[in-house]
Amino acid sequence: MNILSVVGARPNFMKVAPIHAALVQAGFGSRIVHTGQHYDVRMSDVFFAQLGLPEPDAHLGVGSGSHAFQTARIMETFDDELSRFRPDGVVVVGDVNSTVACTLVAVKRGIPVAHVEAGLRSGDRSMPEEINRIVTDSISDLLFVSEPSGMANLLREGRPPEITHFVGNVMIDSLVMLRQRASESNVLAEIGLNGEAYGLVTIHRPANVDSPEPAGKIRDILMELADKIRIVFPMHPRTRASFSELGLLDGLVSHSAISVIEPQGYLEFLNLMQHATLVLTDSGGIQEETTYLGVPCLTIRDSTERPITVEIGTNQLIPLDAPTAIGAAEEILGVGPSPTSRVPDLWDGSAASRVVKILGDEWA
Ligand code: UD1
Repeated sequence: MNILSVVGARPNFMKVAPIHAALVQAGFGSRIVHTGQHYDVRMSDVFFAQLGLPEPDAHLGVGSGSHAFQTARIMETFDDELSRFRPDGVVVVGDVNSTVACTLVAVKRGIPVAHVEAGLRSGDRSMPEEINRIVTDSISDLLFVSEPSGMANLLREGRPPEITHFVGNVMIDSLVMLRQRASESNVLAEIGLNGEAYGLVTIHRPANVDSPEPAGKIRDILMELADKIRIVFPMHPRTRASFSELGLLDGLVSHSAISVIEPQGYLEFLNLMQHATLVLTDSGGIQEETTYLGVPCLTIRDSTERPITVEIGTNQLIPLDAPTAIGAAEEILGVGPSPTSRVPDLWDGSAASRVVKILGDEWA
């Protein structure tokens, strides 16, 4: 059987890497198509090298643009690749534009699609990712779920129980595999951190960075937090472009307690997370990785599609409001990690082999 897996944007690489490895190990033909949604060396290439992913079998080179442009370009070009590769099944992961675009094309060609990380719902339809999740899950043939809320959401939406499988978290497979190697990275010394405590920050969501009011509040939170703890901020290109245009970048870059650095590789970022006193983010995956690592995480969002990270993990949702954010950070700095946090079920490093076992049973 030949399986074609899709990657497009940064959070896809660490999910597809363990699936590709498990497919190869189980004797499947495994091909990878990169849509090119993310294309910078630091947003893409470095992950292939570190995660042991082979060069993609095809690169669609779509690049940046509006959601409509990106989705449409991916659909057109992916259709051609399906003609060329004629896979027996397609695997898509996560919730980015590449995920939904490739799912639509494959399903309409009658090629079965498996969605890995299915069923997550924030309930917030103003997030582009939420629309991508709903559409992808409603037409995929097999749904692989990472946490119990995902199963409940899919059943509530009327997806057949026999196509939904709770397999755990494939992204954690990559973390488990590379944690040791990540701890050997020199990134802390390179940033000039010599055992000093620091908070790690990643912020890139359009709702937080694209317009002056929220972006200004983010800047205020960071300036105030920097009075309490050193800050390391690997900046997403979207955030850098927007903060620069809004005149918010210089104040952060010139602050002596804030290190604004380039987007990091997988190993370097994992190392930074492992050693951070706290993480401040608006990412999806980082809520899960910090929960696995037991590192306190403050997520600047009103809702999360990953509620298990709040229920049993180290994650806390906070509004975009400086006094609340600083209060939450102070509490962490005072008391350290929540003693009650634990690792969710089946986040054990073996999720991809469960996925591949089921693919073999269902599609062979
Ligand atoms: C995308 C995903 C988001 C994910 C994020 C991780 C969607 C809808 N969003 O958002 O869920 O959390 O990736 O990073 O799919 N850019 C570069 N170089 C790159 C890629 C992007 O400079 O390699 C810049 C471009 O200016 C681009 C902007 O970043 O316009 C945004 O990129 P885009 O792929 O549109 O969305 P992200 O914000 O990265």
